[in-house]
Amino acid sequence: MLKIGNLSLKYPFVLAPMAGITDLPYRMVCRRLGCELAFIEMISAKAVVYENKKTRKMIAALPGDRPLGIQLLGTEEEFVLRALDIVQKNEYDVIDFNAACPVSKVASKGEGAGMMKEPIKLGRMLKAIVDHTDIPVTVKIRAGWNESSVNAREVALYAQDAGIKGLFIHGRTRQQGYSGRVDYSIIREVKEALAIPVLGSGDVFSPLHVKKMFEETGCDGVAVARGALGNPWIFRETAGFLDSGVIPPRPDIQEVADIMADHLRGIAAYHGPETAPVVFRKFFAWYTKGFREVKPLKERAFRAKTADEMLELIAEFRRHETYAETAATISPQNAGGEKNYREP
Ligand SMILES: Cc1cc2nc3c(=O)[nH]c(=O)nc-3n(C[C@H](O)[C@H](O)[C@H](O)COP(=O)(O)O)c2cc1C
Repeated sequence: MLKIGNLSLKYPFVLAPMAGITDLPYRMVCRRLGCELAFIEMISAKAVVYENKKTRKMIAALPGDRPLGIQLLGTEEEFVLRALDIVQKNEYDVIDFNAACPVSKVASKGEGAGMMKEPIKLGRMLKAIVDHTDIPVTVKIRAGWNESSVNAREVALYAQDAGIKGLFIHGRTRQQGYSGRVDYSIIREVKEALAIPVLGSGDVFSPLHVKKMFEETGCDGVAVARGALGNPWIFRETAGFLDSGVIPPRPDIQEVADIMADHLRGIAAYHGPETAPVVFRKFFAWYTKGFREVKPLKERAFRAKTADEMLELIAEFRRHETYAETAATISPQNAGGEKNYREP
């Protein structure tokens, strides 16, 4: 069990925010397979304040999509608090603040991972957010800005003093982006320094990586990110593994195709049938990853013009015997969104 303020989760893992990925249809797919708390991708406080139409749609919270977290990005307190006034009407279960985004145009403005350079300012910002809402507040940080400024422990202590209810840490520096291995030791250092729940993030591609994150860091929870790309089963498998010590069998090809079709229909309903093939094609590639001889089908998926065409490709995938033969041989280890799987 994991508690973040007044929110209790049966299992200590969550779907991490991912820009361009964790929209409503994707969150619903993950929820069907055992994900409890899921995050909307990071949302710029300014975009909320200026009532950007796309942003309004992104932050909508529907009844079945719970428990739900929103993550705000910004560096000016005034905008962040005005954004908070707007978003908290949606009664999210968690409000997270992003001090982790490595993208240059974000971090160079002092937002996202740029906040790692200013722990006192970050602490003040978090205190202002905590004082402004009754919803549990968390923060997402990185190991540090670069290898010569690994300051996560100091940043985390300022954040805790601000009254937040939990902290996410991606165990890489801003300079590393998403490359190199996650640094478990910095996550452990932060965990040992704090009294609030600490959730580790980085290189979680299977239930074995979840176990490794717990063992190496002593953390209270784990955020699943790239490991869930095309592999929402990671939630079901991790829950089963934590319950019994045995990883449940991988989904067979029928189940993979069922989820693909449902996900595509969800995307068509949410984003519109015209955009659905463009949004879904990356998911098509992720879902079918590891299946043999699937390349021509993936290429056709990249050219699909309509949702119906995409559904037909999914049906073809389902019918193809070669793919089905290989389905049973795919281990949890080679599932997931990472290009080069590494042993935990
Ligand atoms: C495509 C993509 C988008 C992401 N967007 C966000 C985001 O909006 N907010 C955030 O805090 N982290 C974001 N992340 C970082 C992940 O939440 C996670 O911390 C990171 O990928 C490390 O975990 P992993 O190695 O298991 O993928 C993103 C990661 C990816 C791959």
